[in-house]
Amino acid sequence: MTDSPRPVLLDCDPGHDDAIAIMLAVADPGIDLLAVTTVAGNVTLPNTTRNALRVLDMVDRPDIPVAAGRDRPRARDLSTAAVMHGESGLAGPLPIEPSRAALGVPAIELIEQVLRDADEPVTLVATGPLTNMADVVERLPHLHDRIRELVIMGGAVDLGNWTPAAEFNIWVDPEAADIVFSAGTVPGGDTGAGIELTMIGLEVTHQAWLDDAHAAAFRGQGKAGQFVAELLDHFVGFHQDRFGWPGAPIHDAVTIAHLIDPRLVQTMPMNVQIETQSALCMGRTVADRWSVTGRSPNAAVGLGIDRDRFVTLLLQRLGTLP
Ligand code: BDR
Ligand code: CA
Repeated sequence: MTDSPRPVLLDCDPGHDDAIAIMLAVADPGIDLLAVTTVAGNVTLPNTTRNALRVLDMVDRPDIPVAAGRDRPRARDLSTAAVMHGESGLAGPLPIEPSRAALGVPAIELIEQVLRDADEPVTLVATGPLTNMADVVERLPHLHDRIRELVIMGGAVDLGNWTPAAEFNIWVDPEAADIVFSAGTVPGGDTGAGIELTMIGLEVTHQAWLDDAHAAAFRGQGKAGQFVAELLDHFVGFHQDRFGWPGAPIHDAVTIAHLIDPRLVQTMPMNVQIETQSALCMGRTVADRWSVTGRSPNAAVGLGIDRDRFVTLLLQRLGTLP
């Protein structure tokens, strides 16, 4: 591996925490954000796409290509999280229109081009429902060896957040998640062919929260800092009111932080299956924590995070933005 920045493609549904993930990827000198693709999830696809473009404008990176992907889950109607992120998906900051439109090609074509043309295998990061990533599994098998690894924010070993059993990103499109996890293998492991998969779930991200004091620290730090502060004003307020928590988990930014600092998140190889049948447990990531099934591990699953280190990293990197 060279010392050149790691090529990354981020598939997302911004979303407050997706927005911060994009900003962190742009801010880190060790990451070369080659492209951003969008998916329907937190809000509808036109809004997640507009938000991705807005965020890239905010960090002066209108050169990073953006393409819109799937506008609905594979086998279900779209359910959004507008109650949490607002109808626009980025409640809080003034809704400024982006300077450009997304590319006129679907996300899967941009992903194909990026994988094909990159100088080295590309790290894929997915922070929304896995609808586009299931397309990558099914439609780009000839390019799987061009994927260095896939890191997702989604799932939980224990409790869910959107239902008692399921985390939002997996619950929205469990059939897509099933395809992705069925193609997964443990990073650096010897459990066979597949896409090296890391699952950053709620055990990790519920520890990765920021509060009002962090919003205050960002305010006045240039236009990007002001934008993050206004995102946090809404997002922290929502979590305080709805859950009584001191702050808001910045779920999606943990995926990028994990790439920047591999010692941040503690992971363990596990077999993860996706529930696609049960009404009560739809979208549950059934993670074999104690190896009771005999099934081979298909992912590295996050179990914890050094929160202080995460917060320090986030504040430092975002502080370098314009
Ligand atoms: C996930 O759901 C979305 O609302 C967030 O953006 C994050 O990706 C957390 O469950
Ligand atoms: Ca998200």
